[in-house]
Amino acid sequence: MNPVVVLVGPMGVGKSTVGQLLAERLGVGYRDTDEDIVAAEGRTIAEIFVDEGEAAFRAIEKQAVHQALAEHDGVLALGGGAILDEDTRALLAGQRVVYLSMDVEEAVKRTGLNAARPLLAVNPRKQWRELMEARRHLYEQIATAVVATDGRTPEEVTQAALDAL
Ligand code: S3P
Repeated sequence: MNPVVVLVGPMGVGKSTVGQLLAERLGVGYRDTDEDIVAAEGRTIAEIFVDEGEAAFRAIEKQAVHQALAEHDGVLALGGGAILDEDTRALLAGQRVVYLSMDVEEAVKRTGLNAARPLLAVNPRKQWRELMEARRHLYEQIATAVVATDGRTPEEVTQAALDAL
C-alpha cells in the first residue's frame, strides 16, 4: 500500500493544513507522522528532544515514517526533517511526493521564536538559513512536484498541489 501523495517541506510551511484540505478534496484519509510519534510516545516532540536529543528523535521518526508509508493509502505529511534519512529518501523514490516550499523570510515570519519547535528555539533567522541550505536539495531530490507557498493561502496551495498531481 502506498500513500496517494506524500507532503514534504519545512516546519510551518502548512503541510498539516494543506494536507487535510488535499485529503478532503481527494476523498481520502490524512495522516501526519509527527502526530503518530506524539501518540505513540505519549509526549510532545519538544519533550523527546529535551529528554533524549535529536538523534534519538530521528530514530523514532524513521520508524514512524516507514510504518506510515507502509500502512497509509491517503495523504501523508512528514515532519520537516524526515528526509534527512537516506533510507527514507530511498523509500520515497517512486512515490508521488509534493514539496511545499517557502523562502527563509516567509519561514521566519510564519514561525518566529518557537519553543514547541526545538530547532527554532534560539535564533530563528540564522537557524532557518542553515536548515534551508542543508535540506533544500534533499527536498528537491525526492519531489515529483514543487509547490511554492509564499504569499499563498492554504486553499491556493491546495489547488496548486492538485494541479501538480
Ligand atoms: C522538524 C520538524 C517538525 C518536527 C520536529 C523536527 C525538523 O515537524 O518533526 O520538530 O527537523 O524540521 P513539522 O515539519 O511537522 O513541524
